[in-house]
Amino acid sequence: MQSITAFLEWLQASSLAVFIHKTTWAFTTVEVVHVFAISMVIGTIAIVDLRLLGFASTKRPVAELSKQVLPFTWAAFVLAVLAGVLLFISRATDYFVNPVFWIKMSLIVLAGINMMIFEFITVRGVQQWNLDPTPPSPARLAGGVSITCWVLVLLCGRLIAFTLPTE
Ligand code: HEM
Repeated sequence: MQSITAFLEWLQASSLAVFIHKTTWAFTTVEVVHVFAISMVIGTIAIVDLRLLGFASTKRPVAELSKQVLPFTWAAFVLAVLAGVLLFISRATDYFVNPVFWIKMSLIVLAGINMMIFEFITVRGVQQWNLDPTPPSPARLAGGVSITCWVLVLLCGRLIAFTLPTE
């Protein structure tokens, strides 16, 4: 634990972290990039989730829709992680002990596991229900879990700022 704390203190004292932390426009710019990226992640994943739930794009084949949309989700996710890491290092010791931050990270991992299960197991038989307006229950479950996780990630992300100690 001591070595983690020492590492976080070192990270937070780096010139990049101090610059982001002390320069209002720098933190704001990184946060804007983060918010842009997460809106792309959630906006694009919602297209797929709503199709899996049978609520939208019901005339489009699931496999084709996912293939077209998910590369944008992944690209936006990489950008969200990069910007998130920059925000994190600016107050690494405070974020590290913040339970809401860890709930948010756990929800991201959960959304990832849900996606893996869908990609490696559920989607195998997609050709049988590719054109069905309402996909089978495992696919609907994957869509429901996904959209719920992402909305909760949003909520926690917003909540972090209100749960940090005032400086
Ligand atoms: C795609 C997944 C993610 C979503 C949906 C998300 C969501 C959010 C939201 C809504 C905010 C608040 C923005 C604002 O109030 O202006 C936020 C801030 C933040 N996020 Fe994320 N985030 C994601 C990924 C990450 C990752 C991977 C990290 C860290 C490695 C991270 C670290 C942070 C930090 C440190 C803040 C600043 C909190 C503060 O206001 O002090 N985020 N995020």
